[in-house]
Amino acid sequence: MTQLDTPIQASFIGLGAMGGPMAATLARSGHLAGAWNRSSGRAEAWGRTHGTRVFATLAEVACAAPVVFLCVSRDADVLELVGSLLPHLVPGQIVIDCSTTAPQTARTAALRLRSAGVAFLDCPVSGGTEGAAAGTLTLFVGGDPATVERVRPLLASLGSRITHLGPTGQGQAAKAVNQLMLAGINQAVSEALAFAVAEKLPLPELIDALSHGAAASWFLAHRGPRMAERHYPLGFKMALHAKDLRICRDMAAQHGVQLPLAEMTLHHYDRLPGCAEQDLAALFELKRALFEKKSTG
Ligand SMILES: NC(=O)c1ccc[n+]([C@@H]2O[C@H](COP(=O)([O-])OP(=O)(O)OC[C@H]3O[C@@H](n4cnc5c(N)ncnc54)[C@H](OP(=O)(O)O)[C@@H]3O)[C@@H](O)[C@H]2O)c1
Repeated sequence: MTQLDTPIQASFIGLGAMGGPMAATLARSGHLAGAWNRSSGRAEAWGRTHGTRVFATLAEVACAAPVVFLCVSRDADVLELVGSLLPHLVPGQIVIDCSTTAPQTARTAALRLRSAGVAFLDCPVSGGTEGAAAGTLTLFVGGDPATVERVRPLLASLGSRITHLGPTGQGQAAKAVNQLMLAGINQAVSEALAFAVAEKLPLPELIDALSHGAAASWFLAHRGPRMAERHYPLGFKMALHAKDLRICRDMAAQHGVQLPLAEMTLHHYDRLPGCAEQDLAALFELKRALFEKKSTG
């Protein structure tokens, strides 16, 4: 294979529920130079499972490939990592952030990196851990169009739909829209299925039927069965969805508006003590409790 045939290489930072399978997808398509995780134990276990190089330092991460992906929890984590990577990056490199943050955080990260000649794309994703593992994510991209074209093969290995929505921050603005919609869908699916239980309907058969009608959704098809089993293996932590809804709240405040769906969902997540680290589908428990209180009260 000549150098021209070698697929564009990337390093990956953040091997959590989402980043772990995304990095594995890049590795399968020949695009991964190696990965790094803050807790080294998680990185080593991931490296053993996927037979892939694990970096010991952020300096190694920065030097190993022209592109560095990030997929970490919160805005402050992204900015902290950008600060730690900056001394090791060289002009012409590209940082792609797949974490969900506020649009302003993306603009701040881009500005800091630009001072070192490094390009930045905000590239939050949707499609759950299943989509991350299958390479079928939806990618919402913000940033310079020429940079998007340079990294398109990397993005295409992660996702089946790549949408460039405008300058830096617009990928995150689109993801905020997605997260607000997800709040409504979680509210609708969890409340309606709790209602179905009260009506003594068989949930597996009902979910299958609903999934072929006008109320069909990814969330119903993938998280409805978990509600039926009252078992919530971790896909997307409630605490992270709450973080995203607070981002929506701040963005809406700039329009002088409150978002009823975001406020109601944040209130409900707060009422599920000890659930912050659970999958957001556990909202079903709160909805079940509504009906259980009535039948015992
Ligand atoms: N899970 C989903 O379905 C999903 C879907 C779309 C988007 N997202 C977004 O993707 C991002 C990651 O989500 P996740 O579900 O993968 O979260 P997660 O399982 O909690 O993993 C978080 C990752 O970020 C790392 N991290 C956190 N703070 C860090 C810091 N200051 N420096 C370095 N590394 C740090 C963690 O390292 P340690 O191992 O050391 O803790 C871990 O690797 C979030 O912004 C989330 O909103 C998630």
